Parts: sequence; C-alpha cells; structure tokens
Amino acid sequence: MRAKERMSALTDLYQEIAVCRKCEIARNRTHTVPGEGAENADIMFIGEAPGFNEDQQGRPFVGAAGQFLDELIKSIGLDRKTVYITNVIKTRPPDNRDPLPTEIMNCRPYLEKQIQLISPKIIVTLGRYSMSMFFPGKSISKIHGTHQTVSGITYFAMYHPAAALHQGNLRETLKQDIKKLPPLLAELKKQMAPVATPPETKQLSMF
Ligand code: URA
Repeated sequence: MRAKERMSALTDLYQEIAVCRKCEIARNRTHTVPGEGAENADIMFIGEAPGFNEDQQGRPFVGAAGQFLDELIKSIGLDRKTVYITNVIKTRPPDNRDPLPTEIMNCRPYLEKQIQLISPKIIVTLGRYSMSMFFPGKSISKIHGTHQTVSGITYFAMYHPAAALHQGNLRETLKQDIKKLPPLLAELKKQMAPVATPPETKQLSMF
C-alpha cells in the first residue's frame, strides 16, 4: 500500500475511533487517543491506555511516562516521529484504572487495523496488558527484553515506562532492554532483504 493510501486509511480509522461508543467510558472522555507517528514505521510501541494528559491532548504518551518513553526512544537514535505509538485501548479509563477485558476486546479491531496498515517489523509491547495480547500466559518479569516472531511480525516485550516511575530499578532494565532493538531490527531487515541472484551464466562451449 502506498504512503498516501495508508495515511488516508489511518485518518478514516481515527475518525471511526473518535465516534466509537462501544464502551461506557466513552461518555467521560475529552478526546480519543488513537495513536501517532510514522505511517511506515519499522517499530510500533503499544502501551496500555491513555491517562489524564493523553485524554486532554488526544495524543499517546505525553505525560510523565511519555517523557521517559521519549528518552528511551532517543537513546537508540530514534525519534517519536519515526516510530508509531499507540495503546491497547483508545479511551482513558476513569481514575486511570486498568482496562477491562470487554474494553480490550472492543478496541482490538482498531489495534489490528493499525498493525495491518502500518505493518511494522517490530511490535514493542509496553507493560503486561499489551504483552498479554501477543504473549498470552507469559510473565513480564520473565520475558522482558526478549522477542518472538509470528507471521512475519516480531514482538518484543518491555516493562511499561510508568512502572519505572514507581520502581526506580526498572529504569535501568528498560534502558538495557531497548538497546536490543537496533540490532534486532538490522537483523530482521537483513533476513527480509531479497537475495541477489546472479544473472544466468551461459554454458560456454568451445565447439
Ligand atoms: N500510559 C499508557 O499506557 N499509554 C499512554 O498513552 C500514557 C500512559
């Protein structure tokens, strides 16, 4: 799909999300927070749910956890404009409570459509709600900093940046884990690069 078509399909999706009323929490939101970033990003970060600041601005990860996420992204030489950032659910739950299973289920088609349109090489799950969509039954303390590839997409699990705001030791863990992304991406690109086939060599005959 061309960049223009992709952007227009994403805009349509954002409009669909903006008028979504599948969940009770839609009543109290200021803005939906669909996601933002490069429509052709190699890396897509998926957090949990918008918080107060995100609901106010309609943009993902713009509060304290977002500042740390920006720092992490910059630490590997990237910028939030060159990656794509979204959440499992697109509306802020009241008092920042955990997303409910029905809310995750109702929002899932939006996330799936984003993944299909952006077609990232790596999906980075931030925290356990995002992780459990792609690594069901796994524990974040065991699998953070590791990846698995399913149907051409590589999933990489990380702690949620907000967790590091409460547990200082996780700051370093997140900084170490994110360092694995550039070599992982380089390796995936190498695997995906078409193998150059030499032009057919004609059988040279002396006779
Ligand atoms: N936490 C999230 O999971 N997502 C945001 O957008 C902000 C904080």
